[in-house]
Amino acid sequence: MAGAATQLELASVEDAVPIARLSRDEIEHGLEWRWQPPAILRLIARPETAVLCARCRFGGASVLGGFGVMEFGLERAHLVLLAVAPRLRRRGVARQILGWLEKSADTAGVGEISLEVRAGNHGAREFYATQGYRHGDYLHGFYQGREAAYRMTKKLL
Ligand SMILES: CC(C)(COP(=O)(O)OP(=O)(O)OC[C@H]1O[C@@H](n2cnc3c(N)ncnc32)[C@H](O)[C@@H]1OP(=O)(O)O)[C@@H](O)C(=O)NCCC(=O)NCCS
Repeated sequence: MAGAATQLELASVEDAVPIARLSRDEIEHGLEWRWQPPAILRLIARPETAVLCARCRFGGASVLGGFGVMEFGLERAHLVLLAVAPRLRRRGVARQILGWLEKSADTAGVGEISLEVRAGNHGAREFYATQGYRHGDYLHGFYQGREAAYRMTKKLL
């Protein structure tokens, strides 16, 4: 079970390249690669942003199994990125990452979390729905004018 073998920790600069690659391959496929290593490094350095890594045991080694990025405001938080490596999916890794970020938001007094997800990404939309997120606005051309998104939100308070 992944829960026992997954360790969550804040990203360090060495994580920027593997995180950027995971974003390119699993989140941004078919779009221009926005979250390249320098952009991830800027996220890691920003005090109002948490970049969380899930380190998982796989084949006897510790690998970057997934990551999540959340921006914290005074009243709202925004989930910027979330991905799990394909070979480690459906083991609760994303649930653990999101749970950690939500708990941090709750502790900070944030009342609502929002995110955008590609409209055609039914798996992720289903995942977020199981975690208590509700579908909101349909955003035409949200991704580089090419692809629509749904905004999804979850109230914490
Ligand atoms: C969406 C994603 C993050 C889910 O990661 P995961 O670690 O596999 O998710 P979990 O194992 O924590 O899933 C928890 C529950 O969510 C639901 N769920 C997760 N993925 C699902 C899918 N593809 N289809 C339907 N339900 C899904 C299930 O109810 C699952 O519980 P179960 O496995 O016991 O049935 C992962 O598929 C991913 O990285 N996708 C590509 C990137 C992406 O779409 N990111 C989100 C948009 S930015």
